[in-house]
Amino acid sequence: MSVSTYMSRRQVLIGASATALAATLAACGSSDKKEGKSGEAVGQGDASQVDVVTWWQAGSEKDGLEALVKVFNAQFPKTKFANKAIAGGGGSQAKQKLAADLSAGNPPDTYQAHAGAELKDDIDAGYLQDVSKLYDEFKLKDAFPKTLMERLTVDGAIYSVPSNIHRNNVVWASVSVLKAAGLDPAKPAQTIDAWISDMEKIKAAGYTPITMGMAWTQMGLFESVLIADLGAEKYSGLFDGTTDWAGAEVTKAVEHYAKIVSFTDKSLYTEDWEPAIKPIMEGKAAYNVMGDWAVAGFNAAKKTAGTDYVYFPVPGTKGIFDFLADSFTLPEKAKHPGGAKNWLSCISSKEGQVAFNTVKGSIPARTDLTDEEKKKFSEYQRSAMEDFSKDTIVSSIAHGAALPAKASNAMGDALSKFAQGASDAKALQKALAEAYKAAQ
Ligand code: GAL
Repeated sequence: MSVSTYMSRRQVLIGASATALAATLAACGSSDKKEGKSGEAVGQGDASQVDVVTWWQAGSEKDGLEALVKVFNAQFPKTKFANKAIAGGGGSQAKQKLAADLSAGNPPDTYQAHAGAELKDDIDAGYLQDVSKLYDEFKLKDAFPKTLMERLTVDGAIYSVPSNIHRNNVVWASVSVLKAAGLDPAKPAQTIDAWISDMEKIKAAGYTPITMGMAWTQMGLFESVLIADLGAEKYSGLFDGTTDWAGAEVTKAVEHYAKIVSFTDKSLYTEDWEPAIKPIMEGKAAYNVMGDWAVAGFNAAKKTAGTDYVYFPVPGTKGIFDFLADSFTLPEKAKHPGGAKNWLSCISSKEGQVAFNTVKGSIPARTDLTDEEKKKFSEYQRSAMEDFSKDTIVSSIAHGAALPAKASNAMGDALSKFAQGASDAKALQKALAEAYKAAQ
C-alpha cells in the first residue's frame, strides 16, 4: 500500500510505493528559480575541467567510479576529470570537508550526495543551483521513476542528478557459518525474533553471529530493525511526525537492536564497511547488514552467490525496499560549471549508468533499459531491479534519503555511544527523538 507522506516545509516525499504516486506529483508545483544566482543559464561556462568529490576512493567503489570515468572521457574528451575523492565509506570524511568548503565559498564543481532530505541544509543555505533545466535538456524527467523524481523535487526545483539506486536493508550471510550452526542458508528467518534465535545458535557454534562497523553502518542496521518492527507506513511516519520517536514501537525496535548489538564484535566498531563485512567473506562470522554495494565487494573478492554467501532482506522487511540514490550537484560558485554540466550529462546517460552500475552493485536510476542491457547485470542486481519495481519504497536514514544531514549525523553519534556502552537503550531512544526534533 502507498505510504506517501511529506516532510514539513520542504515537501520532500519520504515514503511511497513505486506505483501509487502520480497524484502527489501534481503537488510539486513549479519553480520561478530555474537559473543559477549569477543569472547565467545552468552549466554555462568553463568546461575545460571538472573537479568531482565522491567517497568512492577504494576497492569496488573506486572500480565503479573508474568505469564511469572511462565513459566520461569518451563522451567529453575536452573536459579533464579531476578526481577529488575522499576516503571513508558513507561519506564519513567527505561530508565534513564538503561542509567546510561550501561554507567558505570554495565548492568543487560537483559533489556526491543523496537524493532526498539530506541536501536540505545545503539548499536552504543557497549553495546549490536548481538544475531542472538540465533535466529538460537531457530528457531525464521520464527516464527516472516517479518515486525518485519526487525525492529529488523540492518546492518544484531539482538540485541534483542521480547516478544509481541502492538498497540498504540487505543481509549478507556466510554459507559455511550458517551450515556449521545447523541453519539452512536457503531458508532465512522471517522475523527479527527468529533471526535473534538463529544468532544464539551461531554463537553456541563458536562463530560471531553478526558484524557492524562505524556509526553509519550501525545506522544501516538499526533502520532495518525499525522497518521490520514498525512496517513501512509507520517507519515513514517517523519523518513527518506521524510516528513518535519516543513511542512504544520504537522502544521495541531499540530493544531488538540492543539484543542484536550484543552479538557483534566490538573490535570492528571503528572500521569501514569493507573490513566489517570481511569476516562474512572469510567464514568467521554469519551476518552483516549492508547496502547492496556489498555485492560488488563480494564480486571483487571472487566470492560466489549461493555457494560462498547468500543475501536476503533483513528479516521482517520482505517486500520493502529501503531506498537510497547517489546524486550529484552543481554548486553556486563552481569554477567549471560547463565541466559540471558534462559530468551530470554523463552520469545520467544510459551509457554512463550501465557502465557504472554493473560494477558498483547498484541498479541504474533510469528505468528505460532494454532486455539486452539488463543482461549485463548480475543476478543480484536483476533481482533488485525487480524488487524496486514492485516493493514498497521507504527512505534510508543512514544514506540521506529520509532526514536532513543534521538529524542523521546526530542519530549516528547516539548509536555509536550506545554500541560503546556509554548509554543504555532508554538513553538511546531519547537521543534519537531529540535528534529528530532538533532538525525540524
Ligand atoms: C553510500 C553511498 C553508496 C556507497 C556507500 C558506502 O552512502 O550511497 O554509493 O558508496 O555509501 O561507501
